[in-house]
Amino acid sequence: MVTRLTRAAAALSVLLVAGLTAGALTAPQPASGVRWVWSGGVTAHSAAVRARVARGGIPVRLLLSPAEAAGATRERPFESVSDPNGMAAFGLTGLEPATAYEYRVEPQGGAPMRGRFRTFGEGPWNFRIAFSACADTGSASTVFDAIRDARPDLFIHMGDIHYEDIGRNDAGRFRSAFDAVMASLTQGRLYRSLPIAYMWDDHDFGPNGADSSSASRPAALAVYREFVPHYPLTGAGSPGIHQAFTMGRVRVIMTDQRSQRTSSWRTPADRTMLGAAQLQWLKDELTAASEAPLVVWVNTVPWIAAQGPGSDNWGSYAHEREAIANHIERLGLTRRLVMLSGDAHMVAIDDGTHSNYATDARPGSRGFVVMHAAPLDRRTSMKGGPYSHGVSRQRGQFGLLDVADDGRNLKVELSGRDRAGAPIKGMRVAFSCEWLECGLPFRPAK
Ligand SMILES: [Fe+2]
Repeated sequence: MVTRLTRAAAALSVLLVAGLTAGALTAPQPASGVRWVWSGGVTAHSAAVRARVARGGIPVRLLLSPAEAAGATRERPFESVSDPNGMAAFGLTGLEPATAYEYRVEPQGGAPMRGRFRTFGEGPWNFRIAFSACADTGSASTVFDAIRDARPDLFIHMGDIHYEDIGRNDAGRFRSAFDAVMASLTQGRLYRSLPIAYMWDDHDFGPNGADSSSASRPAALAVYREFVPHYPLTGAGSPGIHQAFTMGRVRVIMTDQRSQRTSSWRTPADRTMLGAAQLQWLKDELTAASEAPLVVWVNTVPWIAAQGPGSDNWGSYAHEREAIANHIERLGLTRRLVMLSGDAHMVAIDDGTHSNYATDARPGSRGFVVMHAAPLDRRTSMKGGPYSHGVSRQRGQFGLLDVADDGRNLKVELSGRDRAGAPIKGMRVAFSCEWLECGLPFRPAK
């Protein structure tokens, strides 16, 4: 306890010093008005916004307008009332596809705050996703500016949005952790500029390596629903936060590797990474997506890993990994699926050389493309593998997924980026898909 208090005091003094001396690192916290906003759950016709205001139980208004007509008479009002914790939730509907919107959140009697997002296109549509994971709590790294400068349509945060390692069922600590993240000028700026899709990992769900036995689980599940703009959560048989959405003709599936997982030390038959309900949901989602020209599966933890107990990766859940790989293979999706992962503090790409765990597949055939992208702002580490394109270890890394879709042919490019947004040498894979068949990824000349 003493150690924890000392650590907390030290962290607080660092934050205070940073705020006082730099002024550029921590956003000022208003006594009234909006503390922070972000958007997510975006589709072609809808979006969700969450706004943290200074007080609970007050009317909060959101004014929405197409970005090119901001401030004009085309503003549409949406009304909400902040919950006891000062969180106002908005569901924005009736939007136009592939359209940039600006929103302004105005609490009664307080200063407003603006944000923006672009709705997704319907059918063939060119878009860019940025993805990464892992930053020290409240990090003000410039990597967040580099992500913004890349002008993605979506930022997929693959976990460890903070490192509070909350081991108790304490919703207040989860809320404070989000406040600390959003108090960062660079993160606050990023999250006001685009929509997010956020899946937690261990440090923002519970302690290091956390699974469903973590005491933090009820609080983590509740505060996610309260504070994070998200896609519909199924809830059927599982309170997890797995969700799926469509961008153009691409289906994106995000699974929850923490809140349903059993211990990696149990006997193999009792081990599950996703839990029975989520596993069935994933299989159903994959089946439903089997006609999509490309499927993106956001799975936070390493897929390519040696089999055995006690590991924080799919190697300890090898029977489940094999069942999923066989399902993907039977659907003919292996060559049309890209997995995006975090957890390991590295950028790594495997073009399918090492990722095939389908026992139904022809021996020696390729698996799907796997790309890890992290850390946003954390010391580096390497996990899993091997990876065909190797590993890049730098503080401040993210990935970009670019899709160009002319309605017939879909060109896909995955690239690793450094803290300034520059390409990381060798960390690129590109391929094209036509008639539900993607060509083999090619390795670029180094
Ligand atoms: Fe991490």
